Amino acid sequence: MKFDKPAGTNPIDQLKVVGKPTPRIDGPLKTSGTAPYAYEQRDTPNAAYGYILGSAIAKGRITGMALGDAKAAPGVLAIVTAENAGKLGKGNFNTAKLLGGPDIEHYHQAIALVVAESFEQARAAASLIRVDYARDKGSFDLAAAKASAPLAKENGAETKVGDFAGAFAAAPVQLDATYTTPDHAHAMMEPHASIAAWNGDQLDLWTSNQMIAWSVADMAKTLGMPKEKIRMRSPFVGGGFGGKLFIRADVLLAALGAKAANRAVKVALPRPFIFNNTTHRPATIQRIRLGATRDGKLTAIGHESWSGDLPNGGPEGATAQTKLLYAGANRMTGLHLAVLDLPEGNAMRAPGEAPGLMALEVAMDELAEKLGIDPVDLRVINDTQVDPENPSRPYSQRQLNACLKIGADKFGWAKRARPGKVRDGRWLVGMGVAAAFRNNLVMKSAARVRLNAQGVVTVETDMTDIGTGTYTIVAQTAAEMLGVPLDKVVVKLGDSSFPVSAGSGGQWGANSATAGVYAACAKLREAVAQKLGVNSADAVFAGGKVKSGKRAVPLGEAAKNGEIVAEDAMEYGDLTKKYQQSTFGAHFVEVGVDAATAEIRIRRMLAVCAAGRILNPVSARSQVIGAMTMGAGAALMEELAVDKRFGFFVNHDLAGYEVPVHADMPHQEVIFLDETDPMSSPMKAKGVGELGICGVGAAVANAIYNATGVRVRDYPVTLDKLLEGMPEYA
Ligand code: MOS
Repeated sequence: MKFDKPAGTNPIDQLKVVGKPTPRIDGPLKTSGTAPYAYEQRDTPNAAYGYILGSAIAKGRITGMALGDAKAAPGVLAIVTAENAGKLGKGNFNTAKLLGGPDIEHYHQAIALVVAESFEQARAAASLIRVDYARDKGSFDLAAAKASAPLAKENGAETKVGDFAGAFAAAPVQLDATYTTPDHAHAMMEPHASIAAWNGDQLDLWTSNQMIAWSVADMAKTLGMPKEKIRMRSPFVGGGFGGKLFIRADVLLAALGAKAANRAVKVALPRPFIFNNTTHRPATIQRIRLGATRDGKLTAIGHESWSGDLPNGGPEGATAQTKLLYAGANRMTGLHLAVLDLPEGNAMRAPGEAPGLMALEVAMDELAEKLGIDPVDLRVINDTQVDPENPSRPYSQRQLNACLKIGADKFGWAKRARPGKVRDGRWLVGMGVAAAFRNNLVMKSAARVRLNAQGVVTVETDMTDIGTGTYTIVAQTAAEMLGVPLDKVVVKLGDSSFPVSAGSGGQWGANSATAGVYAACAKLREAVAQKLGVNSADAVFAGGKVKSGKRAVPLGEAAKNGEIVAEDAMEYGDLTKKYQQSTFGAHFVEVGVDAATAEIRIRRMLAVCAAGRILNPVSARSQVIGAMTMGAGAALMEELAVDKRFGFFVNHDLAGYEVPVHADMPHQEVIFLDETDPMSSPMKAKGVGELGICGVGAAVANAIYNATGVRVRDYPVTLDKLLEGMPEYA
């Protein structure tokens, strides 16, 4: 099915199931511990265990590797290294090789896999491998590399509209400030884990992955085998956050280990290994220049960002939102990319906008103060209903101002005072606001639906549920389309033998994957109508029946002589070119800062989101409160400490890399505006998962400023950065 004109009225608009708060249909499996995650599937009871050895240097070469002691250790079945693994390619989505050697590209790059009868034996044997290295000098310091970092080669790395320099110089009110964000780790709950088993030349993989089709293709490319010979399953994913968009060392080395040991092999990355072995969100240095008239109209908007990655890597797209968020005739953005020999940078939790808004939305707060204009009003004044770089493209929907105004009202924004002026016992109290913005991407997505004689509908698609609620919204979509209750729908996900879906990434999953299910269900409705000899145009699918005129037959009747199967994909025309499609929101945060110690505590948070039709308010709210928590983490604690001498992340475990816990998040509220976007798909939905993080960091930092009068432009905002500027203790 092609989606190339705005959606009209369709069966989803009935909203009998879609749009209703619906508990997760996979909830009982998860809460009872019986959902089989990758490492737990039971199809390979005889699997051996693989343990990965990582490089002890960040850059250089292996000059010698002595495997003798490890080979002779108890239980060892095989050892895989670059020397004995045969020729390996590299996946499209990998920057460094997943099995390194003799050349080393980053610290903890995998250099060997030991396969043994037990996990403990594999781990013990791996510690017996002796490796000699010749260490090269690497580049590990973004600030030092900044001056010579060229513009990135990506499309859109540089944009220019009007005369930025002239307009900025002439602006009566100017802001020129630089903000820094550190390297971040995904820190998803479930580690990367895989099981591999060969059956002749057929490779079966159970893994934890967001994008099945991308990853099958990259496995095939890396192993130099046809992708038709690979079956990948990822039915449950304990969080991805962008770290599982592609294959990593666990799945590749499980496959190589299984071949070498002639056994199924399971490999999980130990937590202390994940931080340097896998990908991370790169640190940024961002310079923002804003020029405005005295009444608050932006006349010049400039945003430059510097980040680093391994050779042939890419930049953190921190300028993405600045191209689109506010009106202003003269604009420039630039992404600069330094070569750094730190572990591989890549997508994490709203890549681009999440760190970009941590800078832009503090800059807007600073400008508001210079202008003497309320920060909510400054954003409202600079609203645009068209793409400001291409004014002939309107937004499909843009309710940023409504989010800001409703949020201000609900949060009690009017009570906000001058910085450092509100005291509650030992706490200095402040409020902050930031706009939320994240693009809405649509991706081709396919599904297959089966109807049996009992009227049970089974949906099959390689779409993944990474904790987002996919199982449930897919079931809701099929139930709505076919007029059956939810308990008549079975959803099967995350299997490469199913039709190729959009996968889970970039918050495109919910809208795109359900649109694919819509297309397959529309086809099934046709097939059912034909079987029953009714006209599909006037057939009504409701209450488990198909009604046409005076006739009403149970849906299962159509399949009484055999299952009916329909498969289709939703494909997209150029509506995303004609219309800018984005999601919007406003984040409000109240913090308390201890007047003596500068300890920071979030007191309450509110997000107001405009993101098209909300398919399931319960799981959408979960997405947003989780994302707000990630934003709070970025604001207050998340930071990979770089050892600039040896080139690795020092705090590479969950003791040293801090993320928020429940006690850090005392109160969160989420409001969704009642919106449908007919340009996005027949579902009229968009994504909310990443929108929820975008802007939160800045809202927290702005609240801290409002509480204390201390402006910190270097994330995370920790008490040591506040102490010197704190108001006199009284
Ligand atoms: Mo997302 S960072 O595209 O999983």
